[in-house]
Amino acid sequence: MMHADDIKLINKELKKFPDNQKQSAVIAALRIVQTRHGWLSHKHISDVANYLGMPEIAAMEVATFYNMFNLESKGKYQITVCTNISCMLRNSAEIVNHLEKKLGIGFGEVTKDKKFSLKEGECMGACGGAPLCLVNNHTMHEHLTIEKIDKLIAGLK
Ligand code: FES
Repeated sequence: MMHADDIKLINKELKKFPDNQKQSAVIAALRIVQTRHGWLSHKHISDVANYLGMPEIAAMEVATFYNMFNLESKGKYQITVCTNISCMLRNSAEIVNHLEKKLGIGFGEVTKDKKFSLKEGECMGACGGAPLCLVNNHTMHEHLTIEKIDKLIAGLK
C-alpha cells in the first residue's frame, strides 16, 4: 500500500502522459516512493507496478537498471561520491579515504547507527564541480575538500 501523499505526487506525474501510457511515469513513481522510504523493497516496486498497471518485472527492470535506485536499506543519509575520471583527477580518492575513515565504513556499507551509508557514484554530469558528492540523491556538494566533508558530516549528525 503506497502512502497517500506519494499517490498524490504520482498522479501529478501521470498528468504528463496519455491515459494509456501510465507506465511512462515509472521512473518518477519509483523516485517518489524511494524518497519516502530511502530505498525500494520488492513490495514497493510491486506496488508501483500495480498502480501504473504494468508488469511487475518491467518496473523491476527499471529499478535495477538505474544506479540511483537503492534496492537495499541504506543509512538515513546516503553519501554518493563520484569517482569517475574528472572527480578522480581532482582527487576524489582522498575524499573517499577520509569519509571511510571518519564513518568507519566502505562503499556499500551502513554505519552501525544506520545514520550514514556510502555509495560509489558514476559521473553526475557536473564535472566542473569535481570532486563532488550527492546526499540522498538530492543535495550536491561540489569542490569537496577534507574541511568541507567534516563540515558536511557535522551538519548531518
Ligand atoms: S566525473 Fe564526477 S561529476 Fe563527472
